[in-house]
Amino acid sequence: MPAATDTHPEIERYIDALWIEKGLSDHTLDAYRRDLRQFDAFLGREVGSSLLTATREQLQRYLGARLAAGQSPRSTARVMSCLRGFYRYQLREGRLTVDPTLDVDSPRLGRPLPKSLSEAEVEKLLSAAMLSPTAFNIQNWRFVRVKDPELRQQVRAAAWDQAQVTDASLLLVLCADLGAWKKDPARYWKDAPEPVREFILPALAQYYEGREQVQRDEAMRSCGIAAQTLMVAAKAMGYDSCPMDGFDFDAVAKLIQLPKDHVISMFVVVGKATQPAWDRPGQLPMDEVVIQDRFGG
Ligand SMILES: Cc1cc2nc3c(=O)[nH]c(=O)nc-3n(C[C@H](O)[C@H](O)[C@H](O)COP(=O)(O)O)c2cc1C
Repeated sequence: MPAATDTHPEIERYIDALWIEKGLSDHTLDAYRRDLRQFDAFLGREVGSSLLTATREQLQRYLGARLAAGQSPRSTARVMSCLRGFYRYQLREGRLTVDPTLDVDSPRLGRPLPKSLSEAEVEKLLSAAMLSPTAFNIQNWRFVRVKDPELRQQVRAAAWDQAQVTDASLLLVLCADLGAWKKDPARYWKDAPEPVREFILPALAQYYEGREQVQRDEAMRSCGIAAQTLMVAAKAMGYDSCPMDGFDFDAVAKLIQLPKDHVISMFVVVGKATQPAWDRPGQLPMDEVVIQDRFGG
């Protein structure tokens, strides 16, 4: 058995037990020791914790950090199996009462999910987004798909260097055409019955004409709904997403050559999450956000 030259007594106790109970090879015991030390070092460095005080959330962060650093799901699954054995032993020995590995999935090793969305999947997502409702059916959203890697880098620089901008497989800048309502609006209603068209087209013009605030509000409403459609559709297709407005709107407008009568609403990035989302850091109670009939009553 490898010599116990360690300052981690709990690791060495476990390695000894493995050697005695399972007769594992020195090579395997070394690998277990290394996995446990690395997890312990992460806990100390990143979250001020240690092997015997680690929580489930801290373990999930560690697994996410490994995957984000490019470690294969296979090696992460091996680490998980090592940690499971370690914590089961600690429970058995009465040193712990809660096993942090309980209910934490190992990365799936079956067919790996594609890292990036296929063209067909992107089209499916955008088709779903294009079914989002818009007032008067003006379909004022415009989806700028940023593919060029150099442009992505520039957009990232304008977005406080947020990694999702370059690392997500899909980056969409949700924009809206403020003048969509007056650009041949008959096409939005071309398949409607004649009486409907006769009624709706003048009403549409009257609603938006000269009302800049309304045009802008409508742009944000349409894009907000389209963003949610994209995120829900992405989830249904097995992907993750993030809405974003942490960027310099003017700089991004320049980079994508936004026309003067358009506005940017937000980004939506879609891909595979590198680590699990945090729990909501503070959720308001329902009686603060749901109002019965009127405010102040
Ligand atoms: C309009 C909007 C803008 C956001 N901008 C960013 C952003 O720039 N960067 C980011 O990491 N998250 C961003 N978020 C994500 C929120 O921080 C996140 O949705 C919120 O903290 C709740 O977390 P959850 O959606 O994971 O439950 C944004 C969300 C919305 C709705």
